Amino acid sequence: MKRNFLLWAIVLLCPWTMWAQSDSVIRIGTQRTDLVLRVTPEGKLTQAYLGPRLLNAADCQQIPAGVGREVYFAYGSNDYFEPAIRVTHADGHPGMQLDYVSQKVVPQSDPNVQLTVVTLRDKVYPLEVKLFYETYDRENVIKMWTEIRHDEKKAVVLHEEASAMLYMSSPAYYLTEFTGSWGDESIMREQRLLPGKKVLDTRLGARAAMFCSPFFLLSVGDRARENDGQVLLGTLNWTGNFRFTFELDSRHVLRVIAGINPYASEYRLEPGQVFRTPEFVWTLSETGTGQASRDLQDWARNYQLKDGHGDRLTLLNNWESTGFNFDEEVLKTYIRKSADLGVDMFLLDDGWFANKYPRKNDKQGLGDWDPTHDKLPGGVQALVEEADRAGVKFGIWIEPEMVSMKSELYEKHPDWVIRFPDREPYFYRNQLVLDLCNPEVQDYVFGIVDKLLSENPKLAYFKWDCNSPITNPLSPYLKENQSHLYIDYVRGLYNVLDRIKAKYPNVPMMLCSGGSGRCDYGALQYFTEFWASDNTDPIRRIFIQWGFSHFFPAKSVGAHVTSMGKQSLKFRTDVALTGKLGFDIDVNKLTPEEIAFCRQAVGHFKRLSPVTLEGDQYRLVSPYEGQHAALMYVARDQNKAVLFTYDLFPNRYTEKVFPVRLQGLDPHKMYKVEEINQEAGVEVVPWEGDGEVFSGDYLMKVGLNLFTDRRENSRMIELTAQ
Ligand code: DGJ
Repeated sequence: MKRNFLLWAIVLLCPWTMWAQSDSVIRIGTQRTDLVLRVTPEGKLTQAYLGPRLLNAADCQQIPAGVGREVYFAYGSNDYFEPAIRVTHADGHPGMQLDYVSQKVVPQSDPNVQLTVVTLRDKVYPLEVKLFYETYDRENVIKMWTEIRHDEKKAVVLHEEASAMLYMSSPAYYLTEFTGSWGDESIMREQRLLPGKKVLDTRLGARAAMFCSPFFLLSVGDRARENDGQVLLGTLNWTGNFRFTFELDSRHVLRVIAGINPYASEYRLEPGQVFRTPEFVWTLSETGTGQASRDLQDWARNYQLKDGHGDRLTLLNNWESTGFNFDEEVLKTYIRKSADLGVDMFLLDDGWFANKYPRKNDKQGLGDWDPTHDKLPGGVQALVEEADRAGVKFGIWIEPEMVSMKSELYEKHPDWVIRFPDREPYFYRNQLVLDLCNPEVQDYVFGIVDKLLSENPKLAYFKWDCNSPITNPLSPYLKENQSHLYIDYVRGLYNVLDRIKAKYPNVPMMLCSGGSGRCDYGALQYFTEFWASDNTDPIRRIFIQWGFSHFFPAKSVGAHVTSMGKQSLKFRTDVALTGKLGFDIDVNKLTPEEIAFCRQAVGHFKRLSPVTLEGDQYRLVSPYEGQHAALMYVARDQNKAVLFTYDLFPNRYTEKVFPVRLQGLDPHKMYKVEEINQEAGVEVVPWEGDGEVFSGDYLMKVGLNLFTDRRENSRMIELTAQ
C-alpha cells in the first residue's frame, strides 16, 4: 500500500509527467459540434475551440491552447473575471488553483452517448474537481456538470460552484432571455451584449422561474435568426435558483457560466462528501434557432422528458369554470361531459380537500389532503368510479409542498414549515412552503401521492402545483446550516419525485407552478408536461408558447382551450392544438355544435399527434415580427405535415400579406394540402390551393397565401404526401 502511494507520488511529481500531460487534447464532440480542450505546459486545462465539427481529427491537435480560457477556473487563479468556483478551505485559506490530472472516457450502453470525465486537482489542498461531459451525438446536445470532493480535515465552504463554463469569441453577441411574470411567461427579449456582465437568475427557491426562465438563446455574430447564423441554446436541469452569467471582456471574449445561483447558498462540504452540480445542457447550431430547437426537442423526447415518446392524455379541467365552487354532482356532470368532448380524462383541480378548514378559497386547507366530506361525500373514489363508468380517466390536482396556516397540518407540525420563528410570516398566495430539507417532510409529501394512488389505483394523473416561492427563508431542520436551504430544498423535492417515479413509473404528471413558474428539464424527468401559463387568452398564448417552443417539444407544453379571449372557439382551439391539447371551459355552456367541434378537434389532435408531438417543428412566421404567425410540424418520414397560421391584428388598409413558405418537406414529394378543423358558423376565408396538390419544392419556395386581412383568423392545414 505504502509502496503504491510512493510510486504515485513519484509519477505525479515527475516533471516529464507534467510534459506528457501538457500534450493532452480532449475532444468533446457530436456529429455537428466540437468542443476541444487542451492542457497548457503549465498544466492548466483550457478551452481551445468551440464551434462546428472539425472534419479532420488531426486538426484538433493543431489548435493552440486557449490562453486566458481556463475551463473551470477557481477564485485565486491568474484570471480576473467571474470564476467557476470559489471555496474557503478548512483552514480558512480562500484560494484555489486547479491543475489538470487526467481524463477518461466512460463506456455507455447507448452508442449515441459518450461520457468524458476530466479530473482537476488543487495545487496544494486535497480537493478534486471532476468535469463531466456527456455528448448526444445525433441530437447535437452536450450536457456538462461538475463534482467536487475533498479530503481536508474539516468542512470546506463552497461559495460558488458552476456546472460549467464556456468561452466564445466573436465581434458581437445577442442574448435572448425568456422573462415575464404570472400570466405573461417566457416572453422573448433580445439584447446585444456589451462589455461587462449580464446575469439571468432567480432567487425564489420554489416557483423559481416565475420571473425568469432557466434557459437562454445566445446568438453569435448577429441577431438570432431562424434558419441561419450560429446560436447556442442553453438550459440548466435544476428546479431551483439558477444563474447564467454572460461576461464579455474588452477582447470580445464571452464567458458563459451556468449553475446554481450562489445567492445565500454557501455550502459546507464535509470531507469525503461529493457535491454534484446540476447539469447544464446546450446545443450549438450553425443554421439558426430552428435547428437548435429541433435538436433540443429531440434530445428531450429521447432522453430527458418523462415518457418522452409516449402518448399524451387530452383532458377537461374544471379550474377556469368552477374555481373552488363545485360539489360531487357538478363534477360528475363534468366527467360525463369529458366523454362527450372525446377527451381521455377529467382533471379535478384545487378545492377538493380539507375538513377542519375546508379548501373553499385559497386562504386555507393546504396540507390536509382528505376530501371535503360535505362537498365530496363519496370521496375521490366516487369520482374515479364515475369516470370509469363514463369511459374516461380521472386525474387530480395537488400542491403537496405547501401549507396554509389555517390547516390541521400546520397545527400539528409547525416545525415542518419554512418560516422565521420570531417574526410574523409574510405570504405569497396566503401560504407557506414545507421544509423539504427535512426527510420526515419528504416522507409526508411522498405519502400524499402514495395514499391517493393506493386507495384509488385507477387514479390516472396528477397536476402538481407550486404557487409560492420560498418566503421567510429559514428551515427549522437545517439549524446552523441555513445557507443550504435553497439547494437542499431542491434535493429534497427530487428525493420525493424519485420515490414516486420508482413506485409509480407509469403515472403521468403535469408540472404546474402558478402557470409555468417551474419549467426546467430537472423537473421534467418526472413530469410528462408542464402548464405553460394561466393566461389562456389565445393571442398572449401564441407568444408564450412561441417562447417555450425554443426549448420544449409540443407534447410537453400544456395548452388548454378556455373562455379567455373573445376569439372564436376555433381560433382558441387552433392555438391549443400546437401544444398538448386540453379544455378548461364551462362545458354546460357549450352548444351541441360546439361540443361536436371540440370532439372533432380532439380527433385531429389524436390522429395527427405522430406529427405534432413526435415530428419536427418549424417556426415559419414569428408573432414578434408582425401581425401574423405560422408554425408547422413535419412527420419524420416527411409524408405528413400540419401547419397552423394565425392573423393577429392586421391593419386592413396598409397590411402587406406575404405567402407562407413552408419548411422541412421533401422537395421531391407531392403533397395534398387541405384546410381542416373548421367550425360551423365561422367563415372560412377562401385561399387558392385548398384541396390541391403541390410539390414540396413549390410549397417551400413559392408558398401559400394563407394569411388574411381579418383580425384573429386562424387556419389548420393538413399536408399529405401523395
Ligand atoms: C395555479 C394553476 O396555474 C392553476 O391552473 C390552478 O391549478 C390554480 N393554481 C389552483 O389553485
